[in-house]
Amino acid sequence: MITILPLLLLCVCAPARCVFQKLYCTIADSCDCDFRPNVRELEWDLYKNVFGQHLAQEVLSEEVARFLAQEAPEKPLVLSLHGSSGTGKTMAGDMLARHLYASATGSPFVHQFIPTLHFPAGGHVQAQREQLKSWVQGNVTECARSVFIFDEMDKMAPGLLDVLEPFLGPSHVVFRTNYRKAIYIFISTAGEEVINKAALEQREAGRDREEMTAAELQDAIARAVYDNPTSGLYNSPIIRQKLVTAFVPFLPLCRHHVERCAQAQLCQRGACGRRDVARAAAADMTYQPSPGHYFSTSGCKSVPAKINLLL
Ligand SMILES: Nc1ncnc2c1ncn2[C@@H]1O[C@H](COP(=O)(O)OP(=O)(O)O)[C@@H](O)[C@H]1O
Ligand SMILES: [Mg+2]
Repeated sequence: MITILPLLLLCVCAPARCVFQKLYCTIADSCDCDFRPNVRELEWDLYKNVFGQHLAQEVLSEEVARFLAQEAPEKPLVLSLHGSSGTGKTMAGDMLARHLYASATGSPFVHQFIPTLHFPAGGHVQAQREQLKSWVQGNVTECARSVFIFDEMDKMAPGLLDVLEPFLGPSHVVFRTNYRKAIYIFISTAGEEVINKAALEQREAGRDREEMTAAELQDAIARAVYDNPTSGLYNSPIIRQKLVTAFVPFLPLCRHHVERCAQAQLCQRGACGRRDVARAAAADMTYQPSPGHYFSTSGCKSVPAKINLLL
């Protein structure tokens, strides 16, 4: 039944097709049925809930919209997220997945890869390369619109990810498998020095943070990631061949951003009115550089722990 229905969909007229499609989607575990991207909601979610990251908001929304507008993309979407710890990289990656699939990050077509969990240190790198390759290949064959999130790339064995190079370019369309519709998200702290330096210079020159553009940081981040032995993309042909669609900078967070994180946390706990706690949590964080103390050293990461102590 499940195998016959897709054929029926192709044969029937438009209104009936809708009925059959609905029927098919109620019984089939199909990625096309679950794939319901909503770029507007993604844009809104990033704008409203990821504080102080106008560059990431812009680049993520634009690149995802551009990619999804293509019926037959020329290459997969490859986004590489960079910035200091606690600035919202994992959060933004989850958001992206959430607005692509109806069943969100719980979708069987959204795959999270965490090196320390999936490939603990001490494993055999060549075997891991083979496993990673066949895992991606299997998933894309199953669902062309697969989303892969590679978090904590800094803890990945060097060279491991290079095995994906053939999948990330434009040439890879093999019988029954279209590799060009997949989305890959790489996340690491590599390149943070470049991003933080640019934010500091902007600040010290008295210019508005919002005047910074992602374009001016692209090449510098690419170079820093390529030169960093623990970036997961060290000396990688993926960067040499320009297979990364965009490098997405996450800026260091200021005190008022941390306060907003604390406020959001408090609201989630039903204590929206405790502005005093939000202020105290932000005041209790460490800021650098000295002198200046503009940017939180751990972003918003330890905010929940601070609130636990203060509430
Ligand atoms: N820019 C931000 N705006 C709102 N909340 C943030 C931001 N950055 C971090 N947070 C909060 O801190 C938590 C940890 O952030 P996370 O995305 O894991 O940071 P990263 O992956 O960059 O280290 C998030 O779950 C979120 O609650
Ligand atoms: Mg993270």
